[in-house]
Amino acid sequence: MSIIKKIPLVLIFFCSFSYAQNVSGEKVFKTYCWGCHHQTSVAFGPSFQEIADIRTRGEIQGHIIAPLSTYKQLGHKRSVMPSFQGKLSNEELEAITDFIYTFKSQKEK
Ligand code: HEC
Repeated sequence: MSIIKKIPLVLIFFCSFSYAQNVSGEKVFKTYCWGCHHQTSVAFGPSFQEIADIRTRGEIQGHIIAPLSTYKQLGHKRSVMPSFQGKLSNEELEAITDFIYTFKSQKEK
């Protein structure tokens, strides 16, 4: 590939990179999770508060990326949550995890 053809790719790379710096967990939540999870009340899936109180970052991120490999370990009988592998960037995954932890109930610790 000639250098000229590579320039747009490089630009796309840097644009997505600078965009990724600004990802907000709340935006990820509203875009992908809100239909099934609410902040503090049980919806289709458990509330973020419940999740934050009992799960590690690894468990949370593992379930978002590969629910079918983690649901049994987390005590669910079945899994209907879609995998977000390839849909969320690493930055978005970190941001949504931080966002979930903001709902940790105070009395728990
Ligand atoms: C179609 C509905 C649906 C969507 C969309 C969805 N979830 Fe879920 N989620 C569930 C259900 C139902 C469960 C219970 C276990 C299962 O089905 O895998 C769950 C389980 C989880 C768990 C593990 C709960 C535990 O036991 O600790 C996490 C973490 C989680 N979801 C995070 C997210 C995040 C973050 C998003 C958005 C990026 C999201 N979910 C989007 C339905 C959904």
